[in-house]
Amino acid sequence: MRMRRKRNLEARMQACEELLLVRGRPMLNLKEAAEHYRARLDLEAVFGRKGECVLEVGCGNGAFIAELARRFPEKNFLAVEVCTNVILTAMERVQREGIQNVRFLNIPAEILPCYLSEGGMSEIYLNFSTPLPAANCEKQRLTSPRFLQIYRTLLRDGGEISQKTDSAFFFDYSLARYAENGFALLCATRDLHASEYAADNIVTEYEANFLAQGKPIYMARVKKVPLAEP
Ligand SMILES: C[S@@+](CC[C@H](N)C(=O)[O-])C[C@H]1O[C@@H](n2cnc3c(N)ncnc32)[C@H](O)[C@@H]1O
Repeated sequence: MRMRRKRNLEARMQACEELLLVRGRPMLNLKEAAEHYRARLDLEAVFGRKGECVLEVGCGNGAFIAELARRFPEKNFLAVEVCTNVILTAMERVQREGIQNVRFLNIPAEILPCYLSEGGMSEIYLNFSTPLPAANCEKQRLTSPRFLQIYRTLLRDGGEISQKTDSAFFFDYSLARYAENGFALLCATRDLHASEYAADNIVTEYEANFLAQGKPIYMARVKKVPLAEP
């Protein structure tokens, strides 16, 4: 279902402009984007300090990144969200709550390498990315090989990806792609909320809905390792 455009969208986006680093046209391919948009961000200048930088892809309403940023005030956080209507909710939350260490990019994750330097991220969070089970949608899955290649570029050596999903299909698909694309498994559970990892977990908007439906939550954490020789 198509979401209705928010009231006063442009004025409200403008009111959050200090938090918004980039607003791109929807869905360009990487080559086209590189020609139009290549503009590396100076994150030290953006945050006014050096510091570990953590990225969330598809941040939705921003509840997760806001809580993570509160828990780790010494780290810097970037949240990427392709949908302008949705990122507005996240930015208004961060502004309202006075959180200082989060900034936003309103672009498709496909073009992140146009803005972020190689090896600059320590962690990437993928929370409830759409599973897209149809075979002809594989390229759009946020753990497909083309996205894992992008994450490898953005992550420092030993950098980590944390993923949560309600989809057994997407979980198994992702574990297989991590193993093939230079990511080593650190931990995984097929029932996060019955596991030892539940205590530190931050429940996202979609997670709360899936929990209310009685669904188990799948979680994996992987680490960037050197690619195996062919
Ligand atoms: C199912 S929602 C999950 C939202 C949130 N992470 C949560 O757990 O509540 C997935 C979000 O990812 C965003 N998204 C999907 N593909 C994306 C892409 N290629 N780049 C950036 N955001 C994307 C969607 O717009 C949507 O807001």
